[in-house]
Amino acid sequence: MIGIIGAMDIEISLLTAAMSDCEEFTCCSQKFLWGRIGGCEVVVSKCGIGKVNAAMCASIMILKFGADIIINTGVAGALDRSLKQLDLVISSAFVQHDIDLSPIGIEPGLIPENGSVSIASDAELSALALSLAPSPDGAKAITGVIATGDQFIADSGRAADIAARFGAAACDMEGGAIAQVCAMSGIKLIALRCISDNADGSAGLSFDEFAPQAADKCSNMVLRLLDAIAKKDGQAI
Ligand code: ADE
Repeated sequence: MIGIIGAMDIEISLLTAAMSDCEEFTCCSQKFLWGRIGGCEVVVSKCGIGKVNAAMCASIMILKFGADIIINTGVAGALDRSLKQLDLVISSAFVQHDIDLSPIGIEPGLIPENGSVSIASDAELSALALSLAPSPDGAKAITGVIATGDQFIADSGRAADIAARFGAAACDMEGGAIAQVCAMSGIKLIALRCISDNADGSAGLSFDEFAPQAADKCSNMVLRLLDAIAKKDGQAI
């Protein structure tokens, strides 16, 4: 069972349109569409924006639907300055840039429960996703660290600081929270994030212009990944 999480409607609409044998469930005010996409059994949900929504959704997918893989899909702000709008970032690892217990002597970014700053993405899924890139439209695809926080980053200084502190390629508002749930539950996770903006002063306008197209690009990549996973069925993934 593969759980697919997007934060906004535009991040899951192509996926729900591709589903068959659907049943809808509501749990803790979040909606879950359970069914199939091609050869994969999936549960798809729009979790809403931010870490709490994302963590709750991942937990429900694992506990109620038996998800053993989670794919997080959606748009992101670029922190790696070589990235442009509509480029794809495949997660290598996740950090939470807004967790900071430094006043009590704990390294900024360290998640006490996990004992680490960074949580790895599933290496096999990341390699599989990268093997499916570049996308047919030729946009760049890289693997990189996703930095998550409950803030829309729209300041070049802040973006540069997060990039430097965590070696992060892109920022979002959900991935790191889903990663923590998956790590604590022994569930495989990959995030596919398409760049909608540069996390700088122009981020708001750029987001408005590019988010729908970026979200669709990511969804198409998710569909290709599901196809590849289905073809590998019976093997290790
Ligand atoms: N998702 C898309 N753009 C973002 C940004 N600039 N900050 C946080 N999350 C984002």
